[in-house]
Amino acid sequence: MINKEKIHPLLQGPVQSRDGIRGIERPRGLLDALQEDNEHLRSLAGMHIVSARQFDRNQILQLSRLAASYETQPDLIHPPLRGKILVSAFYEPSTRTRLSFESAWHRLGGDIMSITDPATTGIAKGESLADVGEMFNNYGDVVVLRDNSEDSVYSMLDSLRIPIINAGNGIDEHPTQALADIYAILKWYPSFGREDLPEDKKVIIGVIGTPNRMRTVRSLLLLLSLFSNSIKKVYIVNPSTDLFDAEQQEELEGAGLKIEVIHKLRDVLPEIDVVYINSIAWVGDSYETLTGDIKLTSESNLKPNSIILHPLARGEELDPSLDKTEHNWYFSQARGAVFIRMALLTCLVHRINLVVDSPVDQPEEQ
Ligand code: CP
Repeated sequence: MINKEKIHPLLQGPVQSRDGIRGIERPRGLLDALQEDNEHLRSLAGMHIVSARQFDRNQILQLSRLAASYETQPDLIHPPLRGKILVSAFYEPSTRTRLSFESAWHRLGGDIMSITDPATTGIAKGESLADVGEMFNNYGDVVVLRDNSEDSVYSMLDSLRIPIINAGNGIDEHPTQALADIYAILKWYPSFGREDLPEDKKVIIGVIGTPNRMRTVRSLLLLLSLFSNSIKKVYIVNPSTDLFDAEQQEELEGAGLKIEVIHKLRDVLPEIDVVYINSIAWVGDSYETLTGDIKLTSESNLKPNSIILHPLARGEELDPSLDKTEHNWYFSQARGAVFIRMALLTCLVHRINLVVDSPVDQPEEQ
């Protein structure tokens, strides 16, 4: 007789529900807080998405609203991307971005062609990215590209007649990660989307990172600048001093962010409502660790009800002891990336009318 008691405890019942992930119950609050206005979503149809600079505040709020609607009801009866093909080209390692884009596209009913190694394409024979882009036009409806060079995505723009999404280009930008970051903040605090927050309701954000070397941080700060009316202050926390490109800080401050550079986290941590932490930048074929020995654990002096975001992958800077605390919003952030990408993809391929309550009479099917 087989001894059933030897079966691992987690194998003795159905898999655990995902309700343990913080933020999973929040999309409804966001739906209640934001008024539907689909014109802002229609304005994204057919766009390339390369930089966070391209978005305005209303587009982000409406994308978040649509993402919340998808997250609340993920099983679509009429998947809007049926018949559409995604070219998923990841020339640099990725867990979340590639799989969440592909999950998003599958959930919307589309098909995918995936390239995870440029050496399996004509690039290995010296083919130019412009020529590869010309070919992509024939094979798919949207391209998602990750590359360790800042220039690659720009090299393809001229030849592409289908939208391309920058899924991380070297140390430059990662605009859809920043969308996922803002979506996580909005789920935690839907009033973040208001323009008239009183001073005592504004949030303090602490970014542990390096704005001139981390693409996630560069894109996030650009999007945060659109919400500067809801932000009391942004601390940039880093033991180093060379943190901004020429004019980067001035531009963000000009857009309304109040930025203060701090070298020691413990000096400000108890004040911070949203802690955004990242320690690595992917450079060439490897990565650099840029935030010294700054580390968050469940023993850190975090403000009650504050949240932690991290684009992941994490290293020692984010201790797993935080995973089961109220501060863990990084798993919700990663999960939400699927839904915000579903929202964006629906818009780019002119299929927004198939998923909203108030379609307008306009030609959009191709
Ligand atoms: N957040 C992010 O870009 O993760 P991946 O590198 O796993 O895609």
